[in-house]
Amino acid sequence: MAASQRLSSKHLLGIKDLNTQDIELILETANNFKDVINRPIKKVPSLRDITIANIFFENSTRTKLSFELAQKRLSADVVNFAASSSSVSKGETLIDTVNNILSMKVDMVVMRHPYPGAGVFLSKHINAQIVNAGDGAHEHPTQALLDAFSIKEKLGEVAGKKVVIVGDVLHSRVALSNILCLQKLGAEVMVCGPTTLIPKYIHTLGVKVEHNLMKALNWCDVANMLRIQLERQDIKYFPSLREYSMMYGLNKQILDSLDKKIIVMHPGPINRGVEITSDVADSQQSIILDQVENGVAVRMAVLYLLASQKG
Ligand code: CP
Repeated sequence: MAASQRLSSKHLLGIKDLNTQDIELILETANNFKDVINRPIKKVPSLRDITIANIFFENSTRTKLSFELAQKRLSADVVNFAASSSSVSKGETLIDTVNNILSMKVDMVVMRHPYPGAGVFLSKHINAQIVNAGDGAHEHPTQALLDAFSIKEKLGEVAGKKVVIVGDVLHSRVALSNILCLQKLGAEVMVCGPTTLIPKYIHTLGVKVEHNLMKALNWCDVANMLRIQLERQDIKYFPSLREYSMMYGLNKQILDSLDKKIIVMHPGPINRGVEITSDVADSQQSIILDQVENGVAVRMAVLYLLASQKG
C-alpha cells in the first residue's frame, strides 16, 4: 500500500494537532487495513526495516497489545518496555530512558505515561517519531480514532450523529480526545455525569452538558460509557460506587426503555456493575469488542501514515 496523501503532523501527540483531513485519511487507511487483518495472510511488509519501541509507564491491556499486533502485522521490528520492570525504578529519567532505547536505533516510540504532556515533552527532546498511547488525563488519540471508526462502521457516518460521553469526564483522556475527534468529524457531543466529575472548562469545548442520564440517553445515537478512574481520584467525587451506579450506571432496563436503539460503547477496562451492567456490555447494542478489533486496524493506519512521513 502506498500513501499518496500525508498527515500534517510528524507525531501523533493528540487529536488537537490533527485536522479533519488527517482524521479522514487515518479512518480511510484503517478501512483498508481492516480488510488486510481479516485475510488468511494478515501481514504486509509496509514497515519492514522500521523499529518501534513501545514504552509503557502505566498499565495497559488493549492499547499495548493492539499496538504490538499492529506493528507485527506491518512487519515492523518491535521492542517492548515496561517501566515497572526497568531501570526507571532505580531513578533513571524519562529522557535518559528513551535516549538509551533510541541508541539502539529505534525509529518510532509509542508511549503511555501518567503525566499529561509527556509525549509533547519527549518530542521536543528526542529525534524519533512519537505516538501518544495515553498521557495522564490529557489525550488518548488512537482510542478516539478507533471510536470514530467504530461509529462510522456501525452508523455509516459520524457527521450529524449525537454522541454522549457518560461518567468520569474529569479524569478521562478518552473524553477529551473523543470530543475533539467527533467534533472535527461533524458529530454533536454531550457529556453527562455528576457535577463533580464534569470539568469546569467543558463549556469552552462547545459540548452540551447534561446531569440527568435518562435525558442524555434519550437525546443520543451513541452512548460512550467511561470507566470511573479511582486510581486518579485523590478525593471523593461521589458518595459510593453503588450510588454512582444508581444515578449513572447503564442497565438493560434503561436501555430497553429508550425510544430508539442506541449504540453502547466503552473504552475498557469495564467495571461491570458500576458504569455498565453485564447484560448491556454483552448485548446486541454494545460494540465494545468491535472497538477493540478496530483498534488494530486504526493503529496500523496511524503507524503506516507516520512512517510514510519519512520517505
Ligand atoms: N482503552 C484503553 O486504553 O485500555 P487499556 O488501558 O487496557 O490500554
